[in-house]
Amino acid sequence: MTAPSTSPGSPYGTLPPASPLPQRKPISLPRLAQLREAGEKITMLTSYDATFAAVADAAGVECLLVGDSLGMVCQGLPSTMGVTLDTMRHHTESVARGLYRVQGTAWLIADLPFGSYHESPEQALRSAAVLMQAGAHMVKLEGGGWTTDTVRFLVERGIPVCAHLGLTPQTVHALGGYRVQGRGDAAAQTLRAHALALQDAGAAMLVLEMVPAALSAQLSTELTRCATIGIGSGRGTAGQVLVLHDMLGVNLGKNPKFVRNFMDGAGSVKGALEAYVRAVKDGSFPDDALHAW
Ligand code: KIV
Repeated sequence: MTAPSTSPGSPYGTLPPASPLPQRKPISLPRLAQLREAGEKITMLTSYDATFAAVADAAGVECLLVGDSLGMVCQGLPSTMGVTLDTMRHHTESVARGLYRVQGTAWLIADLPFGSYHESPEQALRSAAVLMQAGAHMVKLEGGGWTTDTVRFLVERGIPVCAHLGLTPQTVHALGGYRVQGRGDAAAQTLRAHALALQDAGAAMLVLEMVPAALSAQLSTELTRCATIGIGSGRGTAGQVLVLHDMLGVNLGKNPKFVRNFMDGAGSVKGALEAYVRAVKDGSFPDDALHAW
């Protein structure tokens, strides 16, 4: 019987042969800042498992987000609110393992789920530690104002943070549904104040979800130390993110209207992900005609 080619002591099981591909440099915070400063769009997709993580990395997607959207996409939940920290840990480990197996270079972000950072900065630190130990490079949390001190607390302790403003799915009931945020002067001013405070607290990245295109473009110019990543927020942000299954055209519900099905004409999943990277980089996605706000 042939012995399995497992590295002694490896928690990752049987390893594939060393990749014949030339080594790419791992994506890091300085690299992401460089891309933003050079005006090159940053690409991000959600990722929930090892295999798709490896395919997305090979397609050149720079950032993978283990989003709590996995509650809806993978678990069939009605919202992200039922996702637990243990579930996030499980999926973060799977994605990290997929990247490890292919010597991937993507920057790995994991969502702090509902209820795991709301009590205190100390609670957020304990939860963030679980996700960082699972392989995340950065954690993401939703909301502005009350989250500022928590972001500062985490960043001071060496945990990179991505903030998330606009439509924040963990508060969908308080927001009255999945709808555009930051419309009108007062709402736009509040969102802007929250964004600036989050940057001052040290957030290196900010997801803007369903924010009017003009507002997200303005914020993307104003925030010089924080990369804005848009979803349904126009093309003026430093980068773009989509839910993987949405952009592959497999969805249990209805795709949001700002999503493009990149499987159309792609021929393969990897081809679809490469088409997404190309379209974000050359500015042909998102298409402003898809944003009525
Ligand atoms: O959970 C998620 O997938 C997200 C993205 C939609 C940004 O937060």
